[in-house]
Amino acid sequence: MGPRGWLCLVLPWVLCQGTSRTQPEQVHLSYPGDPTAMTVTWTTFNRAGSIVEFGPEPGEVFTTSAKGHASRFVDGGWLRRSMFIHRVTLRGLAPGQRYAYRCGSPLGWSRVYGFRALQNGTDWSPRLAVFGDMGNINPQSLPRLQRDTQQDMYDVILHVGDFAYDMDQCNARVGDAFMRKIEPVAASVPYMTCPGNHEEKYWDVGPAHIISFSTEVYFYLNYGRHLVQEQYQWLERDLQKATRPDRRRRHPWIITMGHRPMYCSNNDLDDCTEHESIVRRGLPQHLYGLEDLFYKYGVDLELWAHEHSYERLWPVYNYQVYNGSAKSPYTNPRAPVHIITGSAGCKERLDPFVPNPREWSALRIEDYGYTRLQILNRSHIWLEQVSDDQDGKVVDGIWLIKELHGPKAWH
Ligand SMILES: [Fe+2]
Repeated sequence: MGPRGWLCLVLPWVLCQGTSRTQPEQVHLSYPGDPTAMTVTWTTFNRAGSIVEFGPEPGEVFTTSAKGHASRFVDGGWLRRSMFIHRVTLRGLAPGQRYAYRCGSPLGWSRVYGFRALQNGTDWSPRLAVFGDMGNINPQSLPRLQRDTQQDMYDVILHVGDFAYDMDQCNARVGDAFMRKIEPVAASVPYMTCPGNHEEKYWDVGPAHIISFSTEVYFYLNYGRHLVQEQYQWLERDLQKATRPDRRRRHPWIITMGHRPMYCSNNDLDDCTEHESIVRRGLPQHLYGLEDLFYKYGVDLELWAHEHSYERLWPVYNYQVYNGSAKSPYTNPRAPVHIITGSAGCKERLDPFVPNPREWSALRIEDYGYTRLQILNRSHIWLEQVSDDQDGKVVDGIWLIKELHGPKAWH
């Protein structure tokens, strides 16, 4: 056992002194796709009840109580640590209303947190924070995100994959520490992720339909090629549904989030640096490539991470730039727009760029930071990049404007 192994043994003993094992921790919210509902998730190390007490703000009385369930999780590390993951979905919320809540059981309650139920319908302007690759060590952007969140700047947070580095390290203690660290943010705003395994999701928020999927199935083929095929078919079915005229009229923006990008101009050996990247073109013999699929259904915006930097692309398809016009490239673009935002901060630091990017690369920033995305209405999206290195300065901003959505917009 190396020095780190010993640390793993001793640290928890030190940390556990005085800590009740039924005290809730790692509290976070997720949006179950219905504005009258919100899911609260937390962890205890011993068995305890799964209760959320909540009520509208202002007011200090928890008027309602909801019950959920706990599932026992046994970590795969050599300590076989066991914990209980509690999940409770709050229902009957008034869309747009702020609520206070605490979670736990008579054996221990969390501190009181607050959140705002998402608004109903399509005529509102969701505000999102978007980033990937935030770790337990060096999560540089986290304090700024906390401050933003406490100032009620976001309705939803999208964490585009790669958490903690790694959740399972040190017998999953790294994951626990990370989840504790993000709690002030994740317990206050739905914290939506895109998974590293086979667990895709979609939901509507205001005028947008957001699809979260796994790029990892393309890289861990030992789990089976069928995962690639199943996910591809799932994606196509969802895109078919989302592009039915009645649906697309209500939610014209289709936004995808996946971890490993199709394009990038970083100076490393990642998939996106390859001309025939696997995410873009699919497995050998071009099976299940995502660029053609997303183009076919007129996906508007593709959010990625994995590269620890920020890169904005010109509207691009098959390596060709399809700007709306020379003067206004993002007004009525003729191909999807890609944003790579993986610089929230982790122990692997930033990823440098190659000196001379290809013509599809519009802007590259090698600072820690994150992206803000406001879906103003059916035709306008505002995207901006915050540099944490430059004290929160907004270092990029574009309007993405579309009068027409869907594949017709490409011609
Ligand atoms: Fe990654």
